Amino acid sequence: MKLATDPQVELAQHIARLRTERKAILLAHNYQLPEIQDIADFIGDSLELSRRAAAIEEAEVIVFCGVWFMAETAKLLSPQRTVLIPDPQAGCPMCDMAPVEEVRKRKAELPGVPVVAYVNTTADVKAEADICCTSANAVKIVNSLPNPRVLFLPDKNLGLWVQRHTEKEVLLWPGYCPTHQRILAPQVKRLKAQHPDAVVVVHPECTPDVIDLADEVLSTGQMLRWARESPARSVIVGTELGIIHRLEKENPEKTFYQISKLTVCPNMKRITLEKVLWALEDMHFRVEVPEGIAVPARRAIEQMLEVV
Ligand code: 13P
Ligand code: SF4
Repeated sequence: MKLATDPQVELAQHIARLRTERKAILLAHNYQLPEIQDIADFIGDSLELSRRAAAIEEAEVIVFCGVWFMAETAKLLSPQRTVLIPDPQAGCPMCDMAPVEEVRKRKAELPGVPVVAYVNTTADVKAEADICCTSANAVKIVNSLPNPRVLFLPDKNLGLWVQRHTEKEVLLWPGYCPTHQRILAPQVKRLKAQHPDAVVVVHPECTPDVIDLADEVLSTGQMLRWARESPARSVIVGTELGIIHRLEKENPEKTFYQISKLTVCPNMKRITLEKVLWALEDMHFRVEVPEGIAVPARRAIEQMLEVV
């Protein structure tokens, strides 16, 4: 009698076989579905994933389990490798809030003001930037610049967070993350009242009133490190829900409370085991950046990696 196998286990086994055949590495963001995180070679935040992509020597193919701008960043930093994204529709609405024509127009209005582009931007916008940043290093990047004013785009909430930690004037762009926007201050207050011993940790893409209620404001990678090192036994988590899987896996003795069940990034969840398998089978969908954009975009990312 043939024993029934869990389809996810079977898929993971197929992926493992093909991964070896194709000499591929699987990079995954901290918001990916649990079953994707569980088969990834490396999981991280945007900065950690950029660093990992830049340092890859052992693989010919990168299968990027995350959203488009992250896969594009991996391609910029590892141009000699084939970079695949299992679903090319996995975009980031915040990136779309800063179209390149608008960015050029604003730049022209602000001569001499450097542009700091959050990595959540398309490659053509990065190509217009002086330097990139991620949520893990935005304050350091802005403070590393000699200018008294900077144009920070596209996330106004991250820009406002930076403004709290710099003497410089941070000129904002009206972009935001629709997922983090769903985290509301009254929900945080209610949870705090229910769990007075819990520490509140939120992402800097949250709105300022949520940030005001937080004990720690951290990138996803920093949250994971903080959770491992902190003596706190219970934590209220203000970011996309995918992170809870890794938080619980790495800290089984601690309790993590989600602020809202609505804090899901639908684009991150487009990447499934089936799509990863098909990507490896058909070697699709290839991420390419035209050379004229890749050169200046890469320079802006490398500038960032030199600072932090
Ligand atoms: P991190 O770099 O902190 O993982 O954030 C990426 C992101 O898109 C948050 O919404
Ligand atoms: Fe973009 Fe927000 Fe999704 Fe991050 S969580 S990828 S900022 S939409």
